[in-house]
Amino acid sequence: MMYMSKIGKEDTQFLKIKKDSAEKLLKLIKTKLSDESIVDKRKKVIHSGVYVLFPIVKNEKKVNNLIECIGNELNFEIINAKGKIDPNHKYRSLEEALVGELPEDIIDLIPKSYDVIGKIAITEFDRFNSLSVDKTSIYKKKVAEAIVKVNKMVETVYEKKSEVKGKYRLKELRPIFGVDNPETFHKENHCIFKLDVKNTYFTPRLVFERNRLSLLKFAKNELIVDMFAGVGPISIQIARNNDVKIYSFDINPAAHKYLIENVNLNKLKGQILAYNIDVVNLIKSSNELGINLKNRVDRTIMNLPEQSINYIDIACFLTKKTGGIIHLYQFCEKPNPIEKGIKNLRNQLNRMGWHIEEIINSKIVKPFSPKSDLIVVDVKIKYIM
Ligand SMILES: C[S@@+](CC[C@H](N)C(=O)[O-])C[C@H]1O[C@@H](n2cnc3c(N)ncnc32)[C@H](O)[C@@H]1O
Repeated sequence: MMYMSKIGKEDTQFLKIKKDSAEKLLKLIKTKLSDESIVDKRKKVIHSGVYVLFPIVKNEKKVNNLIECIGNELNFEIINAKGKIDPNHKYRSLEEALVGELPEDIIDLIPKSYDVIGKIAITEFDRFNSLSVDKTSIYKKKVAEAIVKVNKMVETVYEKKSEVKGKYRLKELRPIFGVDNPETFHKENHCIFKLDVKNTYFTPRLVFERNRLSLLKFAKNELIVDMFAGVGPISIQIARNNDVKIYSFDINPAAHKYLIENVNLNKLKGQILAYNIDVVNLIKSSNELGINLKNRVDRTIMNLPEQSINYIDIACFLTKKTGGIIHLYQFCEKPNPIEKGIKNLRNQLNRMGWHIEEIINSKIVKPFSPKSDLIVVDVKIKYIM
């Protein structure tokens, strides 16, 4: 078996093989090579007489590995010729979209993940910190272009420049591709949400958790409080599936504005009453809404993970003394984050004269940092004094 390598001026490297061996070649690439990315799927395969030309990546290490692994089993040539990008090619990963666009060692440093919210993508480059500033901005642009290639809906890419912070839970974002327009429509679990990624909190990473909540068993006309509702993804998904009444609170005027729009955008079985307030006000003796809701609520959702435990007094103030459910989200340190979360909750409740009657469910929702996880506990609580 033999192969030949011709160096030419053309832009693409091809593996030229007889048509009747093509199938065997693709099988061998699959079974013998640990990395199938030798084939440059962005470019068109060329058929020429009895030959077929597979475009391959211009990467010496990968090509040598290919020759080593299958050079003895098939006759083929590595040639250079004019290649054509396939306009219908669907990029499946950033790595694939970045072949030939970035040096190999830089591809190892590209973001491992990014969020897509409607027509907006948000990413961060924590592993680019060691690179020079001028190179970094070129590489970031390439990564942003690759995100757009992989996600045809995306029109704008933002770089996350800060952690989520402040009472509205916002992050600083800098545009690195497209028009700086932070407003978008996002679809999730058959609902639609209008939101502004700069001025409201929203994460698509809770898609499964919100679905879980919305599919729980709710009593007809159940009275629910969503204490930290944001643009309404939890309230709206619950009210879409269930005939319940939800009071949805948020301190951020922008989140409240979108929450109202989102209530109107979605077809709901239940009713949502939105208020732009700090929930602390509910326990003030003069607060009419607080007086109206006091010890009447069946279920309270507390999705402000870094602080929700500090609002347990408000949940107790609202919950029916005979018993109600709390869904409490917390960031808790590893190891045993769930045990820690339940202990925190138990201590706070006991201080208020309440106790946990039943732990309905507890789980890690997602990792948050190297040291902590986002957890949720669904508990039935009851007044004991
Ligand atoms: C982590 S976000 C959760 C938003 C929403 N539940 C979701 O799943 O997207 C927390 C929200 O609580 C709001 N918030 C923070 N402190 C509050 C308070 N004291 N009263 C009412 N809302 C508050 C913030 O403005 C933010 O929108």
